[in-house]
Amino acid sequence: MAPRKIIIDTDPGQDDAVAILLALASPEDVTVLGITAVAGNVPLSLTEKNARIVCELAGKPDTLVFAGCDAPLARKLVTAEHVHGKTGLDGPQMADPTMPLQDQHAVDFIIDTLRREPSGTVTLCPIGPLTNIATAFQRAPDIIDRVQEIVLMGGAYFEVGNITPTAEFNIYVDPEAAKIVFGAGVPLVVMPLDVTHKALTTKDRIAAFRAMGTKVGDMVAAWTDFFERFDMEKYGSEGAPLHDPCTIAYLIQPELFAGRHINVEIETASELTLGMTVADWWRVTDRPANTLFIKDIDAAGFYDLLATRLARL
Ligand code: BDR
Ligand code: CA
Repeated sequence: MAPRKIIIDTDPGQDDAVAILLALASPEDVTVLGITAVAGNVPLSLTEKNARIVCELAGKPDTLVFAGCDAPLARKLVTAEHVHGKTGLDGPQMADPTMPLQDQHAVDFIIDTLRREPSGTVTLCPIGPLTNIATAFQRAPDIIDRVQEIVLMGGAYFEVGNITPTAEFNIYVDPEAAKIVFGAGVPLVVMPLDVTHKALTTKDRIAAFRAMGTKVGDMVAAWTDFFERFDMEKYGSEGAPLHDPCTIAYLIQPELFAGRHINVEIETASELTLGMTVADWWRVTDRPANTLFIKDIDAAGFYDLLATRLARL
């Protein structure tokens, strides 16, 4: 099968960085048409810079990186330095990137790419707040039908929330954008906390990254070490979830994942449950299914895939 053409929409973030590395290491499965940065874990000036740092680390400085929206559609930006550190990529010291940031705005790149490529051949992989994608859909509704699929990290149902008691970070930061994307009618695969909280790092898994004996292996091990402390303290778990690479792993090996086709709606009105992904897991409404909502993962297979692919870089 020809590799799938993808756009990664991201707010790096250590786990975003691992997702980008996995995609860049897997050219037989995915062709990365571009990386579009959005404000999220840290402000846009840092996420676009971090995206370039990661491309250089992968040895792929020709990757096209675009800066997009610097604030959610209707709200003030909420960031997550408490998880990812001040730079978003805290851990080891990283040099500033020398590869260029593209002049074009990320939203224009998304629109132009979907109009240029044959309809139904471009997949969007959002792993941050959905502001860029929703803005593109609002500005150019003609592109919506041209999207092959959206495979995103966001939301939660059984795991409820990580930034509020009922909301996951990516959806909470821009619930209005999420509502647009979940309501667009595009085939949607969602990696919620319910699955990413089963994709935990362990000492052995981090040791496997370090054992690669490469700069990428050392860096991923150091990032996951840093990233871990927050979740381990919070959940008392052995390791931390690598949320965002689940999206790319799904594109490479969908058989690692299992979920249900269900209806998911986004709460935008309630102060108490803002950004909640109201997932009809038990199919108790007649609201039509709009999402393949993933719940289970073969975590060992996922970490094997990561170790094998990242070792190539
Ligand atoms: C999501 O929020 C971010 O902090 C991570 O990068 C991930 O995309 C998890 O809730
Ligand atoms: Ca992210």
